Amino acid sequence: VKAMLRAACPEPVLTVLRRLRWERNLRRLVRSGVVPPFSDLVGYETLVEFIGAKGLHNLPGDFLEVGAFLGGGTSKLAKLASHFGKRVWVVDVFDPNFDHTSTIDGTQMNEMYRRLIGKTVSQEDIFRVITRPYSQCITVIKQDSRKVAFTTNVNFSFAFIDGNHDPVWVDNDFHLAWGKLVPGGWVGFHDYGGDLPKVTHTIDSLVNTYSAGVSDVARFPDKNILLVQKRAV
Ligand SMILES: C[S@@+](CC[C@H](N)C(=O)[O-])C[C@H]1O[C@@H](n2cnc3c(N)ncnc32)[C@H](O)[C@@H]1O
Repeated sequence: VKAMLRAACPEPVLTVLRRLRWERNLRRLVRSGVVPPFSDLVGYETLVEFIGAKGLHNLPGDFLEVGAFLGGGTSKLAKLASHFGKRVWVVDVFDPNFDHTSTIDGTQMNEMYRRLIGKTVSQEDIFRVITRPYSQCITVIKQDSRKVAFTTNVNFSFAFIDGNHDPVWVDNDFHLAWGKLVPGGWVGFHDYGGDLPKVTHTIDSLVNTYSAGVSDVARFPDKNILLVQKRAV
């Protein structure tokens, strides 16, 4: 049947059929409460446990995620946020070609994203399906993070930065979060101490620059995560 279909259908029709089958299967999985492992690169359980252990859900302010990719992590943050009447603000360009930084072994981030997404569906479509159960408490800002500015009434008790890995963006994303972080809130970075040394270097220099305003630092080396707490005045 497949061979007949392939012979009879022009390529765009086949693409649509593949896409429909793929989406139907993913929707079914997500409806049953599963967050597919491929959709959470970092392992956001670590962040969810950290937020709980530090009681950040009791601080005023929402959660911010810069760099969501396929939304598995977003979904886990949003599940927690929904219990405490908070929102997750997501900043992502949803363009797998945007990040041109390379790891030590020469792999470009954009190549890796394209490989993980495949050709059948878009990054944004996968994100929408995976985060659907919590879409009511997620605000998506589909934009280059350098163009994002939050209104004065928005602030955060927790922020996680895992967007573009070029130092210019790491620096931008830190400032985007830090300026909106409530006293006692935490901002976390992915790729600290990993195979993107410029990211690590930029984070070190930011922590150094802002040391007077930092009250604590936490690290999860096995996950390449570093978190920084803003001093409660
Ligand atoms: C490493 S992935 C995020 C992975 C996600 N945190 C996880 O663990 O599943 C980085 C994301 O940043 C996004 N991104 C790249 N450059 C960006 C930019 N300039 N502004 C906003 N998002 C960007 C990419 O689209 C990609 O989804």
